[in-house]
Amino acid sequence: MSAHSSHSRPASPLSAVRARPLKGRVRPPGDKSISHRAFLFGLLACGETKVEGLLEGDDVLGTGKACEALGAVIERLGPGQWRIRGPGLGAILPPGETLDFGNAGTGARLMMGVVGGHGITATFDGDASLRKRPMRRILDPLRLMGAQILSEADGGRCPIVLKGARDPAPIEYRTPVASAQIKSAVLLAGLNAPGATTVIEAQASRDHTEKMLAHFGAEVTVAPEGEGRRVTLVGRPELRPTTVVVPADPSSAAFPIVAALIVPGSDIVVEGVMMNPLRTGLLTTLKEMGAHIEALDRRLEGGEEVADLRVRQGTLRGVDVPAARAPSMIDEYPILAVAAAFASGATRMRGLSELRVKESDRLAAVAAGLAAAGVDCAIDGDDLTVEGGRPRGGGMVSTQMDHRIAMSFLVMGLATLEPMAVDDVAMIATSFPEFRPTMERLGAKFR
Ligand code: S3P
Repeated sequence: MSAHSSHSRPASPLSAVRARPLKGRVRPPGDKSISHRAFLFGLLACGETKVEGLLEGDDVLGTGKACEALGAVIERLGPGQWRIRGPGLGAILPPGETLDFGNAGTGARLMMGVVGGHGITATFDGDASLRKRPMRRILDPLRLMGAQILSEADGGRCPIVLKGARDPAPIEYRTPVASAQIKSAVLLAGLNAPGATTVIEAQASRDHTEKMLAHFGAEVTVAPEGEGRRVTLVGRPELRPTTVVVPADPSSAAFPIVAALIVPGSDIVVEGVMMNPLRTGLLTTLKEMGAHIEALDRRLEGGEEVADLRVRQGTLRGVDVPAARAPSMIDEYPILAVAAAFASGATRMRGLSELRVKESDRLAAVAAGLAAAGVDCAIDGDDLTVEGGRPRGGGMVSTQMDHRIAMSFLVMGLATLEPMAVDDVAMIATSFPEFRPTMERLGAKFR
């Protein structure tokens, strides 16, 4: 596998300029969450797992490299088509090198779960953005299961040396925040525990780990608990290698969708978008804003409902986005804020504390970007209010090593009066390497 290196590339700025109506059909890349998990489950299932539609972004390739360091043999068979020969649960090897996850919180945190449930020691590290992100939320439950933190940087940050538990204790764990990464790390560690591991979440987060556990033959039950869920996994299953079909990523689809909503005269189709209800909070919100989005040809792909989304530009109105919706659109607030800037009236997004600990402090990065475009916005506690109108644009946005900040403000520049520039597009390769040509195919102009 080739190495990932977006964090060592020199900064490359880019501007987006006011576009003619966007037209045509595009398919976003494979879902990032499912792609990371495809490699991880391929490692943990003994035998040959195949993947179709894998996102070949730097984040996912970093997870693949880490899986190789733990004993998987990984081959690319064709575009998006991969084969993983895994040593299997209980048989993964101690890595001879530091596991470098680049920009990827998901890769690092889920792999901490895998290592935490095995009697091996591994060093976890990443780029400057990943080194700022809190890891105690993962290390705390892993400690309860018997893992030891041999060293960590200030405040539980990478680089971290983790010594996994040879016989992890099955636990019942209530996640302190609705986070699929925490839930997944505990479940992945619990795979190698004798007995049932339970995760209780106050609000349901994305359920890809649970679904893939079942797809690979593990016994997992999901029951409602209050507003959230109780997920129980029976440990030490025989994970059977299988094929994973990766649907298109709704978080990447969000960029062409919002572009078509704000560029006058646009009418596009975004194909094969995963409609998992724990991922569609942005679509719900955009529809409340009056967006013309039609789901065509709903069908199943890789165990998920997908649809082709026809999106037409029209007037948007400001709405109040409840905090309870945050888990289902957690990565989509930057691009929602861009849509809100073009709506009539104010949009208030509530309960965004988790945005502060993403690839960047997204609350601050979004507010700074909007201000650079001449848009009025305010942060009040954990809420963000955006005053809509006709954004002037003309600013330069600092992307803070955050792919979604870069893509959001490039999309904005397709509809502002003046071009919008971002200081560095290198990080876009972590999740949507084909972003620029995909958008250009619809008629977007960058320089
Ligand atoms: C992810 C979960 C989310 C999301 C991230 C991917 C996953 O993080 O922001 O991009 O694949 O599990 P949290 O679960 O920590 O909110």
